[in-house]
Amino acid sequence: MSNYHIKHLEEYYQVYRKSLRNPEAFWEEIAEEHFLWRKKWDRVLSWDFSKPEIKWFEGAQLNITENCIDRHLTTRGEKTAILFEPNDPNDPAEHITYNDLYARVNKFANVLKAQGIKKGDRVCIYLPMIPELAISVLACARIGAIHSVVFAGFSSTALSTRINDSDCKMVLTSDGSYRGSKTIDLKGIVDEALESCPDVHTVLVAKRIHSDINMKSGRDQWLQPLLDNASVDCEAEIMQAEDPLFILYTSGSTGKPKGMVHTTAGYMVYTAYTFKNVFQYKEDDVYWCTADIGWITGHSYIVYGPLANGATTVMFEGVPSYPDFGRFWDIVQKHKVNQFYTAPTAIRALAKQGTELVEKYDLSSLKVLGSVGEPINEEAWHWYNDNIGKKQSPIVDTWWQTETGGIMVSPIPFVTPTKPTYATLPFIGIQPALMDENGQELKGNQVEGRLCIKFPWPSIARTIWGNHERYKETYFSAYENKYFTGDGALRDEVGYYRITGRVDDVIIVSGHNLGTAPIEDAVNEHPAVAESAIVGFPHDVKGSALYGYVTLKDTGESRNHDNLRKEINQIITEHIGPIAKLDKIQFTSGLPKTRSGKIMRRILRKIAHKDTSNLGDTSTLLNPEVVQDIMDNVL
Ligand code: PRX
Repeated sequence: MSNYHIKHLEEYYQVYRKSLRNPEAFWEEIAEEHFLWRKKWDRVLSWDFSKPEIKWFEGAQLNITENCIDRHLTTRGEKTAILFEPNDPNDPAEHITYNDLYARVNKFANVLKAQGIKKGDRVCIYLPMIPELAISVLACARIGAIHSVVFAGFSSTALSTRINDSDCKMVLTSDGSYRGSKTIDLKGIVDEALESCPDVHTVLVAKRIHSDINMKSGRDQWLQPLLDNASVDCEAEIMQAEDPLFILYTSGSTGKPKGMVHTTAGYMVYTAYTFKNVFQYKEDDVYWCTADIGWITGHSYIVYGPLANGATTVMFEGVPSYPDFGRFWDIVQKHKVNQFYTAPTAIRALAKQGTELVEKYDLSSLKVLGSVGEPINEEAWHWYNDNIGKKQSPIVDTWWQTETGGIMVSPIPFVTPTKPTYATLPFIGIQPALMDENGQELKGNQVEGRLCIKFPWPSIARTIWGNHERYKETYFSAYENKYFTGDGALRDEVGYYRITGRVDDVIIVSGHNLGTAPIEDAVNEHPAVAESAIVGFPHDVKGSALYGYVTLKDTGESRNHDNLRKEINQIITEHIGPIAKLDKIQFTSGLPKTRSGKIMRRILRKIAHKDTSNLGDTSTLLNPEVVQDIMDNVL
């Protein structure tokens, strides 16, 4: 029996039990047999959730790029590592072999070094989905620099906040990006962001759209000439197991974004192991995850997990609707994709188009379908199962988070019987617990509560960059000795988990994690706004969309509400990005508040859901009269 690759349900239960009985022995065996180490560990695990401090494979030395690239060269040198599919379907796809990847990563790493980047320095990567993005991520890892990828849909303000929070010295970007029929001026956004980032001394610019951009002398350089002159040899920096590999920002329910820090060895072992099993990847398969590398899904399951397994991973620059809504299926047919991993919001958007565009393409290569980012509703699950998988390809509904680094609850295809809307069983080594309101663990099946994890797994984020106290407060303070996920879940009669959604003020819009507080802060910047509260409401494509209740300052003047809505959304776009725009903005005479002045979001949420049957006792509010006013004018 190979513990690395699980092939039937009985084996899953056996391996799962083994991973719980003696986690150290279990993970040691996986790490020992499947990875390349410069030096083995002195200790597999030490942990204390009360501090919190978690260390895996302490004392070990390695470089993750030697595991993702070098060790494949003898057996898979000419195999495609990254299969780049450009935005324009008429442009040729690019097959980057493991040999090519080795040379390109090393050249890039040498360029970084020549620009003064050293082990431990932070490098901000603000690039579209072009090969340079994956290559620069690996180049940072090659020399031990910590990459901080910022999704290239974020605004200049969001970018500068992230650059400054982790004190990045360098930014990697491109002249612009393609997004369907549009182009985006990425370099312009970087220029604006850097006005408030005095510590950035270098910007390297990849040429993608060949636009005429401003290059600031002494700071900005074109990337290609530097790459052309760089050597293809770059010794991998020897890293300690717990050295940071990357920072990736995620929204919190309050305050500024949290720079989640992932370290090297545990992250590598867990993402590789989950990738192998959750997608049942076989040597000649072509695997495609449609996420952007700007999110954790892209880090773990476009770059590190697949490459650590010597897989062929597709990287798609474009959008599902360009040139038409058949694009995903066109790519599946063209590259004979075997595993396809996407988000429920994309499935719903495509389902809306009917099946005509699906039937045009041969999808018979597909073996496994994945879903991630938000709960998948029953209708979307069936559409995916019936029309894309033709009822032959199991759907793996994978639940996990930026903080968890890798997939935590998921079926293993052809192993775990699937059930619509259920992420099903915990992955090997994962010990979930459901907690009630009094902080007690709910034992047994058919229970519903708040989802925690009781025991560390190798890829858990180790801290929040520069704010360990916040890490402790956010994840380890709600329940003693447990990691709290912020999600609610239920466990059915056979022990399957269904994630019911966030229990805090984070709203998942189109699979993107958005904290309400930073959006409210942006809305409140508008000079006419007195205060605001943002809640989620159901949306047939996005899953949830944002509903803003806004109270205006009493200036005596009358205001054009439609113009105000546009202006408010413009401010949000500038501060965060278009993904955080409000779908509905209701102007109200006030916001319902408790006597201590706290906004009663629960009431506002119910009204936005048009579920006002059970608002509870509103008479104890500071201002009960506003509730009726808000209900009367709900959008
Ligand atoms: O609420 C859960 C939801 O997405 C949150 C994590 O978001 P993020 O850190 O951006 O990572 C997304 C990609 C891993 C979770 O707390 N979520 C993610 N996957 C699922 C999900 N909710 C239900 N089912 C899922 N499969």
